[in-house]
Amino acid sequence: MNLQNSSQEIDDVVLKTVNLAKYYNLKNGFFGKVQTLKAVNGVHLSLKTAQTLAIVGESGSGKSTLARMITLIERPTLGQLFLQGQDVSNPNRSTLKQFRPFVQMIFQNPYGSLNPRHKIGNLLAEPLKINTPLKLSERREKVITMLGKVGLRPEHAQRYPHMFSGGQRQRIAIARALMLNPKIVVADEPVSALDVSVRAQVLNLMASLQQELKLSYIFISHDLTVVKHIADSVAVLYLGKIVEHGTKDQIFSGALHPYTHALLASTPSVDNPKQSGRIVLKGEMPSPLAPPPGCTFHKRCPYATDICTKMIPELRPVNGHQVSCHHAEKFVQTGLK
Ligand SMILES: Nc1ncnc2c1ncn2[C@@H]1O[C@H](COP(=O)(O)OP(=O)(O)OP(=O)(O)O)[C@@H](O)[C@H]1O
Ligand SMILES: [Mg+2]
Repeated sequence: MNLQNSSQEIDDVVLKTVNLAKYYNLKNGFFGKVQTLKAVNGVHLSLKTAQTLAIVGESGSGKSTLARMITLIERPTLGQLFLQGQDVSNPNRSTLKQFRPFVQMIFQNPYGSLNPRHKIGNLLAEPLKINTPLKLSERREKVITMLGKVGLRPEHAQRYPHMFSGGQRQRIAIARALMLNPKIVVADEPVSALDVSVRAQVLNLMASLQQELKLSYIFISHDLTVVKHIADSVAVLYLGKIVEHGTKDQIFSGALHPYTHALLASTPSVDNPKQSGRIVLKGEMPSPLAPPPGCTFHKRCPYATDICTKMIPELRPVNGHQVSCHHAEKFVQTGLK
């Protein structure tokens, strides 16, 4: 019984990362020495079927770099990435071919992500042409079906991207991401460039497609109001590391990391409707080229003590979720103010 449960659990995990890292070597001037920028620095995550994991953090925290590794666009420098249980951290050609369709990406800017010279029908058929042996008539049928699924009409296949609104273009980008029946969709700020009035429509579409197609989402966002709407669990990224990870409720009503708490304080609510929803915190995020010693948040943290300046806090279970703060146990008792 137990064995069955645990094997079901493993089957249910569609994505797992172990200590995943991406370093960039930057050259300082012509003869300058090479510096290492740790854009993602040891990330542990897992994602289950039909669940949404939101990744939040300030600009430069490493969200897009993580997304590029998960979608097999870039290879990790260190660590492992498992898709459906298979290690794809350093894939050969045939593994890449097998897994590329498995995980697809939706980008922030629906204007830049669709080639303006191609009709929508061709844009949607292209992944099928490259990756499947389907005939022209079969590809056409799939395109029409997919247009319907994202709320567009068959005649839209004959039009060019510039003939659509931002919201419609993002529907087209979603359709394109789904043409190869992926299991995982990584959405990097998918509604940030859209008018507030159409954001909810696109989010609702993503939610209904998730139900219908059993999709798992990695949803990257600056905007915690959006995350609250769509996520099952939330991982908070700071300088390339996860500082807190838990269910949506744990994060929104019981955050234990002062950074998460500060992010939430900058989110609009009934009490504080003037906040923009963008993450604006006091002090600058340190350069990833020269992160501070100890806890990398300590210079901006109102709760920092001596230990925080010296020792790196490990991500560990506290009160049912994962936190990397030396004082997390204390915050369970006192809360964060
Ligand atoms: N190809 C690259 N070469 C060098 N440095 C890079 C490269 N890509 C990203 N970086 C650096 O890695 C860090 C993380 O960047 P990333 O784009 O992943 O952040 P982000 O969280 O997506 O930010 P934003 O919210 O602004 O999109 C930044 O310091 C960035 O300058
Ligand atoms: Mg980004």
